Amino acid sequence: MSRAVLRMAAVVAAGIAFEKANTYCGTASMAGGHYFARSQWCLPTAEHYANLQRGLNAEAGGDNEYLRCEYEDLRREYEYLRREYEYLRREYEDLRREYEDLRPTFNNPGLVSSVWQGPPAGRVGHETPKPEWLLERIISTTNNRGDLVFDPFMGSGTTAVVADRLGCGWFGCDINREYVELALERIEADRLERSQLGLEL
Ligand SMILES: C[S@@+](CC[C@H](N)C(=O)[O-])C[C@H]1O[C@@H](n2cnc3c(N)ncnc32)[C@H](O)[C@@H]1O
Repeated sequence: MSRAVLRMAAVVAAGIAFEKANTYCGTASMAGGHYFARSQWCLPTAEHYANLQRGLNAEAGGDNEYLRCEYEDLRREYEYLRREYEYLRREYEDLRREYEDLRPTFNNPGLVSSVWQGPPAGRVGHETPKPEWLLERIISTTNNRGDLVFDPFMGSGTTAVVADRLGCGWFGCDINREYVELALERIEADRLERSQLGLEL
């Protein structure tokens, strides 16, 4: 805490009631609630500061015991502290983002358990297609919009179809060229259907 703020706090320590400080400022709660508070502290206006100086010192018998700091010095000290705080806040935000990027995504809407049950996949022209609900659960649990999903065994492209719907990027491969073509057709057809329904692509 800056010396100036401590000086303000000393007014409270001297036993000046918040109500009195509010009266000198001519405000309902500004002085008690912010100028002399330990948290959410804010700089008094020049006018309030002058009123406080006048009121408190008159009360003390006119020997200028209280708030001897010039307003401009107080303001400069406050600005210096504010800039320092802003710098620290930004540094903290950068660190926090870095930390968040390191954590694997796990969005659990309460559906994730050790046994998953659901209907089988429909016929799409592949021997072993996976159902869309299954990929939807996997992708949405472990990815956020804009993330990139990779399936090295794309088959009929269920992963890509669902990733595309969920706003994720995707890429994949399959050893069988026919399946790659099938996957691309499915993705195109799904996009067309969504655009015809006026859904976001
Ligand atoms: C179980 S299927 C994937 C089905 C897919 N999830 C779907 O919903 O249609 C596995 C796929 O892996 C492909 N595959 C097998 N060996 C591969 C390899 N070495 N490299 C790339 N793809 C391969 C197969 O052609 C097959 O289409």
